[in-house]
Amino acid sequence: MAESTIKSGLLTNIVLEIVQSPINLALVFLIFFLLYKIFRRQTETPVRQVVPDLPKLKKRDFTVEELKKYDGTQEDGRVLVAVNGSVYDVTKGKRFYGPGGPYAAFGGKDASRGLATFSVSAAGEGYDDLSDLSTVEMDSVREWESQFKEKYDLVGRLLKPGEQPTNYSDEEDEPSATGDKSKDD
Ligand code: HEM
Repeated sequence: MAESTIKSGLLTNIVLEIVQSPINLALVFLIFFLLYKIFRRQTETPVRQVVPDLPKLKKRDFTVEELKKYDGTQEDGRVLVAVNGSVYDVTKGKRFYGPGGPYAAFGGKDASRGLATFSVSAAGEGYDDLSDLSTVEMDSVREWESQFKEKYDLVGRLLKPGEQPTNYSDEEDEPSATGDKSKDD
């Protein structure tokens, strides 16, 4: 009985000590705040991008019509985007280009014009030769293209109407140091 009285007396003293000093009070708040933060971080389920583990697409060229299938709404969910005549597999950026994403209008499309003019609108029907774009806009297209090249896998080329697809079957799949770059120039 006496022991518990001493204990509760000590507790009261500690509480009084804390409450009466603004610095102590602030420290207690800080401790609780940090504990809350730590606890929340531990219990939060990590928001991870669900990236489907799709096999790398075999190198091939696409017509505008063929590209349309790859807007992410189809069964495998793969998303392709063309920029400046090159087709990229942007499936790992599905949160941008997949259904419901902010740039979904580019999924399965040639995004060149939209990127050059900062307009996230669907590309027109058919092949766009971009010939009416200004030099500045074309520079912007190339700038975007180099970003895509850095981040995503190049799958092939976007074919002009009547253009024959390249036969990539005898090309090595291994990445080489000179690789695609030499082909561009
Ligand atoms: C209010 C306007 C906009 C805001 C606030 C915005 C914001 C952003 C942000 C924050 C990212 C980076 C996301 C990340 O890496 O996690 C991004 C990426 C991007 N934005 Fe925008 N954006 C805007 C307008 C536009 C417009 C008009 C276009 C094109 C016409 C555009 C095209 C892109 C593209 C292509 C990416 C790259 C996605 C990737 O990594 O593949 N954005 N934007």
